[in-house]
Amino acid sequence: MTSTGSYDIQKHNITPEAELQRLQTQATVIWKKEARTLQWFGIKDGMSVVELGSGPGFTTEQLCSLLPNSEITSVELDPFMVQQAQNYLKDKGGDRVNFVEGSITDTGLPDNSFDFAFARLIFQHIPEPVAAAQEIRRILKPGGKLVIVDTDADIFGLFDPPTPSFTKAIDKFSQASQALGGNFRIGRYLWRILQEAGFEHLDLEAVVAHSDELGIEPFAIHPLNVDLFVRLVKMGLMTEEELASLRQSKEDFLASPHPFVLVIWLMACGAKPVN
Ligand SMILES: C[S@@+](CC[C@H](N)C(=O)[O-])C[C@H]1O[C@@H](n2cnc3c(N)ncnc32)[C@H](O)[C@@H]1O
Repeated sequence: MTSTGSYDIQKHNITPEAELQRLQTQATVIWKKEARTLQWFGIKDGMSVVELGSGPGFTTEQLCSLLPNSEITSVELDPFMVQQAQNYLKDKGGDRVNFVEGSITDTGLPDNSFDFAFARLIFQHIPEPVAAAQEIRRILKPGGKLVIVDTDADIFGLFDPPTPSFTKAIDKFSQASQALGGNFRIGRYLWRILQEAGFEHLDLEAVVAHSDELGIEPFAIHPLNVDLFVRLVKMGLMTEEELASLRQSKEDFLASPHPFVLVIWLMACGAKPVN
């Protein structure tokens, strides 16, 4: 395995189990709207779909139920994640999933093979986003579409009452991502990445999840997840005391009379030219 950029479930988290729980929450909380936007961008049951950076399979499960007659190929670099996904999806449509252990920049898949590609929360982690988009363009059929779902530090979360310590920590998180080869401000570049990689008919949408609709509990797991910042201590960007104070801020926020969280994710879409 070569580097998974700024994401490494074994190194960057308190425990893999806690991180898997965060990923599962993240994969379900906003999915209804992601699915709606994917359909708006043209995904249809029966299409051949490739998912890049598919992780432990929570989003693959969602794709399997959205597209009950599609064949799905999931490409994931980390063998631990591939194993997790294979186990998790055993009785959830996994028989329709072709698991590929490989990199988004070098999938090893044949040219012109897929109708639709889906890359969720991976572009922020990789050092060569344009090369990744070019590789996806290669494996898409002419007219096939790529949808990238990602975020940007400056729209990562709106918290009420305001939590300045989280805002500050998110900024440090961006610095850490950059040092590890990622870019937590990727959202603003998605259009240009698609353009540079030769996609056309570009579109950029946003999906919103908020706690008045969904309750505060999922947001306490993501994005109000102090474990995300543990790696900052390991990297010398945050002290143990600052981390402890962040934990306290989270408790204070959750104990406030009407805590509110809103998150915005961006969905960028481009088509592979027909000629
Ligand atoms: C934050 S997780 C997102 C997982 C899933 N897409 C989701 O939305 O739940 C990012 C995933 O990308 C994988 N990854 C990182 N670099 C990769 C690369 N170059 N090629 C393929 N997968 C990669 C990581 O191992 C991890 O499983």
